[in-house]
Amino acid sequence: MQVFPPITNVLSKISIVGQVVGLFILISGWGILSRSSYVTQAGVVIDQPIPFSHKHHTGELGIDCRFCHTPVEEGASAGMPATSTCMNCHSQIHADSLMLEPVRASYRENKPLRWKRVNDLPDFVYFNHSIHVARGVGCETCHGRVDQMPLTWQHSTLEMKWCLECHKDPSRFIRPRDAVFSFGWQSGEPQLLLGSHLANEYGVQFGDNKLTNCTICHR
Ligand code: HEC
Ligand code: HEC
Ligand code: HEC
Ligand code: HEC
Ligand code: HEC
Repeated sequence: MQVFPPITNVLSKISIVGQVVGLFILISGWGILSRSSYVTQAGVVIDQPIPFSHKHHTGELGIDCRFCHTPVEEGASAGMPATSTCMNCHSQIHADSLMLEPVRASYRENKPLRWKRVNDLPDFVYFNHSIHVARGVGCETCHGRVDQMPLTWQHSTLEMKWCLECHKDPSRFIRPRDAVFSFGWQSGEPQLLLGSHLANEYGVQFGDNKLTNCTICHR
């Protein structure tokens, strides 16, 4: 005896197909989402207490990165400029600008400016700027065209696979040391040739998976 008419058979088949398709969309959607900027924050402009423009100060005025990020060649951290660094100029230039009142207040009250982090690795990851600078990895390679950013954003995903992609063979990215702070730099000869030559000269050791060893970044 047939309890359900044949049409329900067809319907239940359709709904199974529907569920499979739905599940597929859900999974691939998650895959896209987890790699998207919504999760990694790459490309997302961060609102700061003062709209500081690298485009203006570095791209147009030509101030060197090290003027404000002084420890970047010697330390793990690149550091943030003290308020007095800004006041070198802004005690005179735009001295009455409303936009710069938080800078003057910070100087008067001797309280540091509170910039929001743009690039922020989890605490269980060890990172060090000085070694990358010393081995010829440019600011541009990891941070993008900072010299063209009116407000700063995170350029790379900072995911583990992004670090490893370079650590497998950094010679694809190594530039002469004197071009580390340059933007828009281009190798005059094939990058692989120059990169392997420089990697050798700078003593970069990535053979035997030395640079993909877990303990390098998870200490
Ligand atoms: C006049 C000072 C000044 C100079 C010069 C300067 N910066 Fe900055 N930089 C700042 C300030 C202030 C911030 C914090 C506000 C922001 O994120 O935009 C910052 C933030 C950054 C950040 C994001 C920090 C984070 O939280 O992850 C990066 C990356 C950066 N600078 C790279 C550079 C590079 C590369 C250069 C050279 C081309 C440079 N800066 C030159 C003042 C400066
Ligand atoms: C070497 C000099 C110099 C230093 C150091 C400097 N600035 Fe400037 N800044 C300038 C000049 C020049 C201008 C733009 C003048 C113009 O074109 O109107 C400017 C413009 C600005 C403006 C736009 C102001 C307005 O009213 O339009 C802000 C905001 C600003 N700077 C923030 C900062 C901060 C924050 C720091 C410290 C991290 C800093 N500056 C360090 C030279 C400097
Ligand atoms: C190999 C990639 C890489 C290179 C090259 C690099 N950075 Fe960074 N930078 C990072 C990462 C990753 C962070 C976040 C570090 C953290 O959260 O601990 C960061 C953070 C920063 C910060 C925020 C302060 C800090 O140290 O956490 C500044 C400012 C900065 N970088 C400037 C620079 C400048 C200037 C250069 C060029 C001399 C440079 N970076 C080169 C990857 C890089
Ligand atoms: C574009 C290339 C590049 C990227 C991206 C990069 N690195 Fe590196 N990293 C290097 C090079 C080159 C060295 C130097 C290796 C050497 O001297 O043998 C290095 C060295 C290191 C060292 C020091 C290793 C030691 O021997 O002490 C650490 C730690 C490190 N990187 C962490 C990171 C982390 C974490 C990330 C991602 C957030 C990252 N790196 C992204 C190129 C890169
Ligand atoms: C070159 C640096 C580097 C090396 C080498 C490295 N990691 Fe990571 N690892 C990272 C970074 C950066 C993150 C943070 C990623 C994020 O927040 O998306 C991370 C995150 C992780 C996490 C947290 C889960 C996740 O994926 O976010 C685990 C677990 C982990 N790593 C295990 C390992 C193991 C095991 C190895 C050795 C096979 C290793 N890592 C080698 C940089 C590294």
